[in-house]
Amino acid sequence: MMDVGRHPRINLLTYSEIENIGGYIGNFHVTVRKKARYVDEAECNACGECELVCPVVTPDEFQEGFSSRKAIYMPFPQAVPSVYILNDKDCLGHNPIACGKCADVCEKNCIDFDMKDEIIYLDVGAVIVATGMDVYDPTVMDEYGYTRLENVITSMEFERLISAGGPTEGHFIRPTDQKTPKRIAFIQCVGSRSQSPIGNPYCSNICCMNTIKDSLLLKDHYPDTEITVFYLDIRAFGKGFEDLYQRSKQAGVQYIRGLPGEVFEDSETKNLTMFVEDTVANTVKDYEFDMVILSVGVIPRSDSNLVQKLLTLSRTEDGFFMESHPKLKPVDAPTGGVYFAGCAEFPKDVKDSVTQASAAAARAQILLNAGQISVEAITSVCHEDLCTSCGICVKVCPFNAITGGDPKTKTPAEIIEAACKGCGTCAAECNFDAILMKHFEDAQITAQIDAILDKDPMEKIVVFACNWCSYAGADLAGLSRMQYPNSQRIIRTMCSGRVDSNFVLHAFEKGAPIVLVSGCHFADCHYIDANRWTQKRVEKLWDKLEKLGIRPERLQLEWISAAEGQKWARTMKDLEEMRKNVTEEEIEHTKKVLTEERKKAEAKKAKREKKKIEKKVKKKIPVEAAA
Ligand code: FES
Repeated sequence: MMDVGRHPRINLLTYSEIENIGGYIGNFHVTVRKKARYVDEAECNACGECELVCPVVTPDEFQEGFSSRKAIYMPFPQAVPSVYILNDKDCLGHNPIACGKCADVCEKNCIDFDMKDEIIYLDVGAVIVATGMDVYDPTVMDEYGYTRLENVITSMEFERLISAGGPTEGHFIRPTDQKTPKRIAFIQCVGSRSQSPIGNPYCSNICCMNTIKDSLLLKDHYPDTEITVFYLDIRAFGKGFEDLYQRSKQAGVQYIRGLPGEVFEDSETKNLTMFVEDTVANTVKDYEFDMVILSVGVIPRSDSNLVQKLLTLSRTEDGFFMESHPKLKPVDAPTGGVYFAGCAEFPKDVKDSVTQASAAAARAQILLNAGQISVEAITSVCHEDLCTSCGICVKVCPFNAITGGDPKTKTPAEIIEAACKGCGTCAAECNFDAILMKHFEDAQITAQIDAILDKDPMEKIVVFACNWCSYAGADLAGLSRMQYPNSQRIIRTMCSGRVDSNFVLHAFEKGAPIVLVSGCHFADCHYIDANRWTQKRVEKLWDKLEKLGIRPERLQLEWISAAEGQKWARTMKDLEEMRKNVTEEEIEHTKKVLTEERKKAEAKKAKREKKKIEKKVKKKIPVEAAA
């Protein structure tokens, strides 16, 4: 951190928040609020005189509330810059000045009660998201008594108590009697690997090694301490980790495979007891300890929603940010020019975080050094003359790649080619055919439908499969020699978001008995959340088909991943059964009603066009130019 602070080419903005990020890859505009710290950063030499005279005493967040701080304080001993900060929420009042003692004693006159937040505008080419993680709060797990029992603490609190810079200067003491505990238990996986609604299903990755490290630290400081670790599995998979685990065992730390159901306290001695089923020895035993340490897992940052919105990012079901591709682009966000480092993407230890941070910096550097980017070949184009400025495309674009489209100002939509990733959702949602999707144009897809249904349409199932998941799932089924009926005909689109309602209706009108729309599972879509729009569109289509007297089941929606070849084969078998049940009368009825519907829509469109031309003529614009 010191190196970063001193680096001539790194501008470190501490105590600052990003308020807005606009623009796109290579051309981001960032608005930063640098909050007033009421202490002149350039002048403060951290002498600490102000802190001594400050009358306000409040719990110190850095020390997990085990000690106190003043309203003017150093956030933590190694803070960069090493400058005091006045917390205006704790201060007795600086406008008007209620106390002012800190200003009176400051010889360098660093205290400035009139300091205001500063707004900084930055133009940057790339953004690295390294927002870190939060720690799981075990207050909801009443069985371990974290809120009721003083001698039950979390691993974060343990870190402060054992730290030389902590509130007890590294003397590990029991909160109830201030004595050094002799018997200590660690409970693993608190808030992790849990199917209960109060926990998280994922492994937090760092807790096992943290406990092993803590047990060795305790043994080093207090060799006579009896330490027991209750665990589900010990995950010591990193370089040198197994060695550390064995050292901990050799030092006398006892590892028991099983988690306690509940922790009880003896009201007199304040000792803690628990029953644990040892799943290796197949025994149930009660244990007594002086202190219990909950090895808490990690969770996504509470402000992840905000960061997600600012950068149009995608998140996994766990709430961590999702990378563009787990193997091919593990540090890239789906939004161009944005990269991840550290636990923002998933829980990881220091070594992995540093590795990922280096990779992210290198990725950003490649982009900046190139000075130019290659845009996707498959992007959308907006025809200004057809655009009605309704703004729907702006709303549905997962990458904020469309500007304009404002019904109030009548500004037509404009595609930022550098930001467009080519999912095609805008083209599918546009009701006025104003957006053209390069290489996946309406006419190209319609021609494929026509070709498929040209002969024996009753025998065919039209399948729209997204390139990244479903199409790859079909590929896997084929490569694995899985057996399934050959009635399906696949039309590949980059994303299921490209599947326009009109494609589905056209297929039915041409005699398709069954149509399948298939894409990635939610959170797997390669275009952030474009498949959410697919779902909405298909739901609307189901309603429409029902109203027209067409069985909605004939239109199916399935999420099939690249690894789900079996699901693909199974789905095809099910669809084949459905296909056999579609009668000729049904098909004829479908064709008839959909043809009528299409003609009505075409008449409406023609009327709209006519009106448009008339309007332009009235404005004395030559008709040829308007056309
Ligand atoms: Fe597969 Fe979007 S990429 S549904």
